[in-house]
Amino acid sequence: MAAKQKEEGHLGLALPAPNRDITASMPSAFLLPPENVEFLPEDYCARLDLSALYPGRESAPLEADLGSGDGAFLAAMAERFPERNFLGVERLLGRVRRTCRKLAAAGACNARVIRLESHYLVRYLLPAGSVQTFHVMFPDPWPKRRHHPKRLIQTAFLDDAWTALAPGGEIRLTTDDAPYFQHMRRVFEAHPGFAEEPWTPGPDYPRTDFEAMFRSHGLPIHRALLRRKERGE
Ligand SMILES: C[S@@+](CC[C@H](N)C(=O)[O-])C[C@H]1O[C@@H](n2cnc3c(N)ncnc32)[C@H](O)[C@@H]1O
Repeated sequence: MAAKQKEEGHLGLALPAPNRDITASMPSAFLLPPENVEFLPEDYCARLDLSALYPGRESAPLEADLGSGDGAFLAAMAERFPERNFLGVERLLGRVRRTCRKLAAAGACNARVIRLESHYLVRYLLPAGSVQTFHVMFPDPWPKRRHHPKRLIQTAFLDDAWTALAPGGEIRLTTDDAPYFQHMRRVFEAHPGFAEEPWTPGPDYPRTDFEAMFRSHGLPIHRALLRRKERGE
């Protein structure tokens, strides 16, 4: 029962069946070692060395998927854009393991996952100016008022994301939760470091597992693209 609850979305809707992870049934001999995919920093108090994460390709643009779930979006993006690097950030062990299996089976050399709290990574581990795009898709909405401080999108997060982003970098926000989206809008409209731009994802922007689930239930999806403004803009 507990395992089932862990696999449910925040509306209690069933996620796509776990057997969609085609790598789960593969003999382990076919898989690259997952430790080649999961990144375990030697020092959680020092900025990441991108050449350790992506040896030989550390100068490629970096995109981070915050709350990357089972890694389906990460795997699809890594395959579609081999010229970019991808970093998934996920706090749940089971989801990190499934992501590792997916990325290892795909042989992706441009995608890693790290098991950590998203804001910690953005604030303390990502080098300044290192990220081209943050993807924040269906972050937990924390609907109870007393839990609102736990929401990821807050002024302090935007401050730290601004620092981690490269000039011209962006944050892509997606949620099914209208009250959380209103909260996000209040936060980012008051932030001097970002400007909202129109954004309709094209066919090359993969749907996440949660997006597929919410769409199958006919729920609306809210989106925003925030572009980093430079000082003086
Ligand atoms: C609703 S799911 C969305 C997963 C995926 N982005 C998708 O759209 O299919 C939210 C994910 O974010 C993870 N998560 C929530 N808060 C987090 C945090 N502070 N740091 C890292 N991961 C977090 C959850 O464990 C979960 O896998």
